[in-house]
This record gives sequence, structure tokens and C-alpha cells, in this order.
Amino acid sequence: MEFKELISARRSVRGYAAGIGHDALVEILKEAQQAPSWKNQQTARTARCYAVETPEALEAFRAAALPSFNQNSSAHAALIVTTYVKNVVGFNGETPVNEIGNGWGAYDLGLHDAYLVLAARNAGYDTLIMGIRDADAIRAKLNIPENEEIMSVIAIGRRGAEPSPRPRKALNEVARFF
Ligand SMILES: Cc1cc2nc3c(=O)[nH]c(=O)nc-3n(C[C@H](O)[C@H](O)[C@H](O)COP(=O)(O)O)c2cc1C
Repeated sequence: MEFKELISARRSVRGYAAGIGHDALVEILKEAQQAPSWKNQQTARTARCYAVETPEALEAFRAAALPSFNQNSSAHAALIVTTYVKNVVGFNGETPVNEIGNGWGAYDLGLHDAYLVLAARNAGYDTLIMGIRDADAIRAKLNIPENEEIMSVIAIGRRGAEPSPRPRKALNEVARFF
């Protein structure tokens, strides 16, 4: 798919007809690893993905970790929990390199997730990034260590209905040119 077409075809999808097979999911996660990262620390050290795939695991996870509106939006989709390891990205040893601190970990993970959602669309799948989730329940369910910050849960699957595009602000509201 041409890149311009790809970025305009991606939408947050809140209705799935089906999930995704394991091999297709692995390919998308590998493509997401191509994202740029602080000092090329990459996902191996910093960003982590926890994939919930089986119907039984998904049912229990959804009920425990998502509010009902996100449970409904992500029904039939697989789920990926994304985390970053704290105090690595943006740190020199124990010391933050600048005022952003662990914000750089979130920044790296956001880039990774942007690649992930575009790679998914390119492979014919859709996604929904969900920031409204219960981090404590997720940590307990998936045994995620305390040194990882739990960020989003990303639904991934085959779209059920055509989503309509959300409006974007005029560029001059968000960009300044000097
Ligand atoms: C960090 C983040 C958290 C989000 N959390 C939720 C969420 O919990 N539930 C939801 O339905 N959409 C969520 N969204 C999706 C946004 O509402 C959506 O990206 C935005 O409205 C633009 O629509 P589009 O993705 O279709 O272009 C989230 C998006 C991001 C980037």
C-alpha cells in the first residue's frame, strides 16, 4: 500500500469482525521493532509487548482490565499491552539526562506503537489504542514486573464496519514556521 494511502486509511476501529492469527501478529510486532529509539536501545531493553490471544485469556483479560466501553469496542480483537522499562531510556546510569526523565521512555514506546498500528493497517488489520484501562489489574493478570510502566492496550483485528474519519485541526493551529 502506498504510504499516503496507508496513513489516511488507518483509523481507530471500535468494532471487529475477527482477531488476528499468531503468525500475522508476530510479523507486525517485528515491523514495529524498526521504529527509531533512544540510543537504539530498542524494544529488547525498553519497550515491551504482552499479547493476549486465546479466546479464554481474552475474555478474562477484558473483564478485568478494561472499562465496559473499551470491552465492547475491542470485542473479537486480540489485545497487546505495551509497556516501557522505567529508568533506562533518557537515563545515564541512574541519572536522567534532562528534565524529561521517563517521558523519553513513553516517547520511544509511542513511536513503536505508531509503527505497530501502521504495520497492522498495511497487513489488512485495524487497531484501537486504549489508554483507559486498569494498570493494576493488567500487572496482576500478566505478571508484569514493577519496573515496567504499563501504557496502552492495543486491540488488533479485522474491522467489522467502515469507521468514519475523525477531523484534524488546521495545520496552522498546531505548527509554527520560522
Ligand atoms: C494514547 C491514546 C489513548 C487512547 N485511548 C482510547 C481509549 O481508551 N478508548 C478509545 O475508544 N479510544 C482511545 N484512543 C483513540 C483516540 O480517541 C483516536 O485516536 C482519536 O479520536 C483519533 O481518531 P483516529 O485514530 O481514528 O484517527 C486513544 C488514542 C491514543 C493515541
